[in-house]
Amino acid sequence: MKEKNVLITIFGGTGDLAQRKLYPSLFRLYLKGELQESFAVIGTARRPWSDEKYREVVQETIKDIAESTEQAKTFSEHFYYQSHDVTDTEHYDHLKDLADRLDKQYDLQGNRLFYLAMSPNFFGTIVQHLESQGMLDTDGYHRVIIEKPFGTDYESAKKLNEEINDVFSEQEIYRIDHYLGKEMIQNISAIRFANNIFESMWNNRYIDNIQINISENLGVEERGGYYDKSGALKDMVQNHILQVLALLAMEPPIEFSERGIRQEKIKALDSVRIYTPEEVKENFVRGQYDDGHLEDKTFTGYRKEDNVDPNSATETFVAGKFQLDNFRWSGVPFYVRTGKRLTEKGTRINIVFKPTPVNVFKTSITEPSEQETLAPNVLTIYIQPTEGFSLSLNGKEVGNSFDMIPVKLDYRNSAEIIGNTPEAYEKLLLDAFEGDGTNFTHWDEVAQSWRIVDVIRHAWDNETPDFPNYAAGTMGPKAAYDLLAKDGFEWIWTPDEWYRERNLL
Ligand code: BG6
Repeated sequence: MKEKNVLITIFGGTGDLAQRKLYPSLFRLYLKGELQESFAVIGTARRPWSDEKYREVVQETIKDIAESTEQAKTFSEHFYYQSHDVTDTEHYDHLKDLADRLDKQYDLQGNRLFYLAMSPNFFGTIVQHLESQGMLDTDGYHRVIIEKPFGTDYESAKKLNEEINDVFSEQEIYRIDHYLGKEMIQNISAIRFANNIFESMWNNRYIDNIQINISENLGVEERGGYYDKSGALKDMVQNHILQVLALLAMEPPIEFSERGIRQEKIKALDSVRIYTPEEVKENFVRGQYDDGHLEDKTFTGYRKEDNVDPNSATETFVAGKFQLDNFRWSGVPFYVRTGKRLTEKGTRINIVFKPTPVNVFKTSITEPSEQETLAPNVLTIYIQPTEGFSLSLNGKEVGNSFDMIPVKLDYRNSAEIIGNTPEAYEKLLLDAFEGDGTNFTHWDEVAQSWRIVDVIRHAWDNETPDFPNYAAGTMGPKAAYDLLAKDGFEWIWTPDEWYRERNLL
C-alpha cells in the first residue's frame, strides 16, 4: 500500500461530525498505513483554539482505539488549528500560509482535500475564497468533500452546485452520502451481480414488491433545531433511501466502475415516477411521534423535544410507495419506511418474491393442506445493526399432512467481523484520497432525487397534518400499514409485534 500524501483542511473542525466520525476514521487509516508521515490536517472553525487544545480534542476522540497514549499523541501532532471566519478574506491568506508551510514540512506534493462539514450556507463563500486566495495554486490534486444536506430543494441545490462548480469540476466534488460507505450497502451489488439465482429473477416477473426500511429508535436528540426545519423526507428519503433504491433497481453496469455505476443509478432514478399532488396523497404517509413507552422506558413526544416548535408540523416518519416506469420494474411497488422513535434501530431491505401460481398442496387427494396460499419467498438484506442476508423458503412440515412451514436460510456476519468492518467514513475518506467517486453522489442523482421529493414536500406543505399520530416506540401511524394493505401486501419487518404480544408496548 502506498501512503497518501495529503493536506486535509476541515471546515467545521471543532464540530460533532469531525469529532465523532472524521478523526477516528483518519486514525484508523493511519493505523492501517494509508496515512503515515506525509499527511497533515488543518482544523478550522470560529472558536479561538490553539494547536495544543485541538490536539487534545483529537486525542480524546481516538483514545478508545489507540494502542497507547503515545501513539494517539504522535498522530495528533499532524493536526493544526486555525481560527477562521469563513467570510473574512484575510483569514484565507493565513490559511494559505499555513497550508504552504505544511506542504513543504510534510512533503504533501500539493495534494489538497477540503472537507466542508459545516452549515451549507457558507459552502459557496468558502470555495470561492479557496480559489481567489490561492489555496488551489499547487501542482497536486484539489478535491472537496461536501456533507449533506446538499440544498434544501432542487432550486437551492442547483444554486449551490453552480457555486461549487465555478471552482471545482464534477470529478473534484465528492458529495457524501454515508450510507454508500456502509459495508452491506456495497454488498447489494455483490448479491445482485455475483449470484445468478437472484439477478435472473430481479424483475417484475418474479418480484412482488421491495421494502426498504431505515428505522431508528432514537428521537431527535440534540439536533432539534436542524431537524425541525428538515423533517424525515429531506433528512432520509431524498438521500439515503433514494440511493439505496437506485442500487436495488439499477441495471447491471457494463463494468463495476465509477462511470458504469453512476450511469445506471441515474437511469434508475430517472425512471421513478414523479407524483401529482393527488398521487402523493395516495402513495405517501407522514407521521410525528407522540409520547410513548416501550418496555420500562417512557418517551416524550416530538413537540416537547429541545429546539422544536411546540406546534411543529415537521414529520418524523415517512412511509411511501415509489413506482418505477421501466421494463424491469413496471408494476412492482418499492415501499419505503423511515422514522425516529420507532421500535428498533434497523436498516433492512426485503425483496418479496411472487408466490407460486397455484398451491398444489391444497388439492392433494390424500392429505390436502389447509393453507390457502403459501408464504412468499423473501430475501432480506440486513444492513445494520446486524449484517447479513436471509432467504425464507417453504418446506414441508414434518408429519402426515402436507402443510408448509417457512424455513429460513440465515447468514450474519459475526460480531468479530462487524467489529473489524471499516466505518463508512473511513472508506469514503480513503476513496476520496484515491480519487474514486463511485460511492459518492453525482450531481445528476442529487438533482433527480430533489425533483422526486420536492413534489411530495409541496403537496404536504399545502395541508395541515393531523400530528402527532404515532406513539413513540411503535412502527409509525396506522396509515403506513394501510398503504400496503390496499395493495394486498404487508410489511415483512414488524419488530413491534414481539413487544405487543408481551404487553410491553
Ligand atoms: C443522517 C441523518 O444522515 O443519518 C440522521 O441526518 C440519521 O437524522 C442518520 O440519524 C442515520 O445514520 P445511521 O448511519 O445511524 O443509520
